[in-house]
Amino acid sequence: MAEFFWTDDLCTGSPLIDEDHRRLIAYVNALFEAMETAGPSDAMREAMSDLVQYTREHFGREEAEMERVRYVASLAHKSEHTNLMRQIVALKEMLESGGKINVPAVEAFLSEWLREHIVRSDSKLAAALERGARAV
Ligand SMILES: [Fe+2]
Repeated sequence: MAEFFWTDDLCTGSPLIDEDHRRLIAYVNALFEAMETAGPSDAMREAMSDLVQYTREHFGREEAEMERVRYVASLAHKSEHTNLMRQIVALKEMLESGGKINVPAVEAFLSEWLREHIVRSDSKLAAALERGARAV
């Protein structure tokens, strides 16, 4: 089964963000499991819906932190969030309307997006939060 493994390079150094990411990854893995074992079903739609909801909450928390420290790269970072939200909401709607998905392609897309975003963007945000915290 495909599984998204937590690796040390995903540690941003921000306890708030890292804790959220661990939970987010648990939701991603629950979706992978449901897609592979249950196929098109209520279980899969539920896992997708849980992932969409948690992702929205998590992005909201990161964006609130960006506002708090007046993060300079917030526009670019938020637009990455908006793009992913658009894609996973489209996926969720497709599943709800009985559409079929390419499971390995969805798994690869989500895994790559998350890993890239965490390593390239969230780590920079975490460093800015750390600087912001020190400046107080
Ligand atoms: Fe982010």
